[in-house]
Amino acid sequence: MDYDVKDLKLANQGKLRSEWAGQEMPVLAEISARFKKEKPLKGLTIAACLHVTTETGNLMVTLKEGGANVFLCASNPLSTQDDVAAHLVKNHKISVFAIKGENNKTYYKHINSVLDAKPNITMDDGADLVSTLHKSKVKLIDNLIGGTEETTTGVIRLKSMAKDGVLKYPIIAVNDADTKHFFDNRYGTGQSTLDGIIRATNRLVSGTTFVVVGYGWCGKGLAMRARGLGAEVVVTEVEPLAALEASMDGFRVMPMAQAAPIGDFFCTVTGNIHVIRKEHFQKMKNGAIVANSGHFNVELDLEGLDKITKSKREIREYVEEHTLKNGRKVNVLGGGRLINLAAAEGHPSSVMDMSFANQALCAEYVAKNHDKLDNDVHDVPTQIDKSVSKIKLKALGVKIDTLTAEQKKYLSSWEFGT
Ligand code: ADE
Repeated sequence: MDYDVKDLKLANQGKLRSEWAGQEMPVLAEISARFKKEKPLKGLTIAACLHVTTETGNLMVTLKEGGANVFLCASNPLSTQDDVAAHLVKNHKISVFAIKGENNKTYYKHINSVLDAKPNITMDDGADLVSTLHKSKVKLIDNLIGGTEETTTGVIRLKSMAKDGVLKYPIIAVNDADTKHFFDNRYGTGQSTLDGIIRATNRLVSGTTFVVVGYGWCGKGLAMRARGLGAEVVVTEVEPLAALEASMDGFRVMPMAQAAPIGDFFCTVTGNIHVIRKEHFQKMKNGAIVANSGHFNVELDLEGLDKITKSKREIREYVEEHTLKNGRKVNVLGGGRLINLAAAEGHPSSVMDMSFANQALCAEYVAKNHDKLDNDVHDVPTQIDKSVSKIKLKALGVKIDTLTAEQKKYLSSWEFGT
């Protein structure tokens, strides 16, 4: 069995932490128990490129219970939990290729290692696996019946591949399930990003000005939680509707040029490139703290920052202090990589439970329905999304009402009015 992890001796710690996470993943546990009996993925090879965390570990075990041969690499060089990687190899005989802090060359070597398994299904987070496959391993495409994509950035990339006619097999956009982005992107990113910023800096958020760059689902969660910690929250946006929403949610909305001199914390969650640039860093207050929680490390223009930097040093783990030529200091967290996974542990298990339940059920859906899917990016079937919310509610012990016959009739009629 082939693998590349930091240290197999970490396996026991990974096992215990995965068990702890599993206690908050009842939906995945229910699916896992069914998969164990039904083996819907029997004989299929799955190549997964995901953040290697306790929650991902539990998903990989579920896929294996379902009968799949599972290969896993990291979807970000900094997000791997080395103990989980060791646990999957040692205790579950799953081939993992991931080491926290790996350089770009090793990152792509690991992606190629999981592709060498000749997968039938890909499970991606950010679309690096799918794009590597399409760029340099086209011969493998014949083996593929479908794939899934976890995140907004990946879905956008894949949709542009489909638009250009280069996507060669169907992908299900797990990110777009309501039971994924309503919870994972909003509450998961909200909490884990602040967790990462706080673990990296140990600074008080209360009484500060916290600039949230981008007001998509992740930005909404982050703004809500930063306000909850007592910050005055400023939102910057380019979309008029999102800016209006932020404004009516009670946040100050302004361009980055105006926010730069007043922020104490800045965090980007846009999915776009260079949303904080040289001219913004130049105006920041002494001691400003800048982080990114978007998928790729492109949101901060760090090359631009280097051009106006006189000297820099790692003042504490995950904090690079830049002394600018203007004399002020600007602190960049986690090298601009997604701070919730670099300095903390990513989204809490309770939300990943729903995201990964969607992943497992979509893998099953691909296994059963790939003949009917064309080479495009597809929505998660509504029945999967609904079943995830129903099982989660049951697990949380929350009961809801059901429509009466009269209400059902009323909703399907058009005759009744004033
Ligand atoms: N993305 C964000 N948080 C995550 C987690 N805990 N596990 C896997 N992927 C994630």
